[in-house]
Amino acid sequence: MPTILKDRTDEIERLAVRYPSRRSIMLPVLWMVQQQEGWISQQAMAEVADVVGTTVAEVYEVVSFYTMFQQRPVGRHHIALCDTLACAICGAMEVAEYLKTKHGIEKKKVTPDGRFSLEFVECIGACSIAPAMLVGETLHGNLTPDGIDAILAQCP
Ligand code: FES
Repeated sequence: MPTILKDRTDEIERLAVRYPSRRSIMLPVLWMVQQQEGWISQQAMAEVADVVGTTVAEVYEVVSFYTMFQQRPVGRHHIALCDTLACAICGAMEVAEYLKTKHGIEKKKVTPDGRFSLEFVECIGACSIAPAMLVGETLHGNLTPDGIDAILAQCP
């Protein structure tokens, strides 16, 4: 019996008619769960498997492949800091250190006030403005300490 997706049935059915197979709606349904819950729990994976007609193992394969899907609770503002080559050369580790020392934001942890969480990710396609990070779905680049302060100040 679905609990997480119980109020999304109509939305899911509208999605399903737009895709060639029921299994094809897995990504949008996972995205729906994450936007609603903030992360994708094992219970949510089981519900998604049921809704799209596949196994929990296959849903887990998809969730664990894409870093955009969170497998544990995150802060209201989740920071995905790129630590791939261009960003690493341009100071991603200094950004991480600044987030930790100035703002108390640490990798794979949620701040005590529930405001922020942080993870390191592979290239987010913003190498020309390295170092770069996503805060939620918003891209920020050319990160500097002052810039980071301004970005975080806008996150309630
Ligand atoms: S290497 Fe960081 S955005 Fe590409």
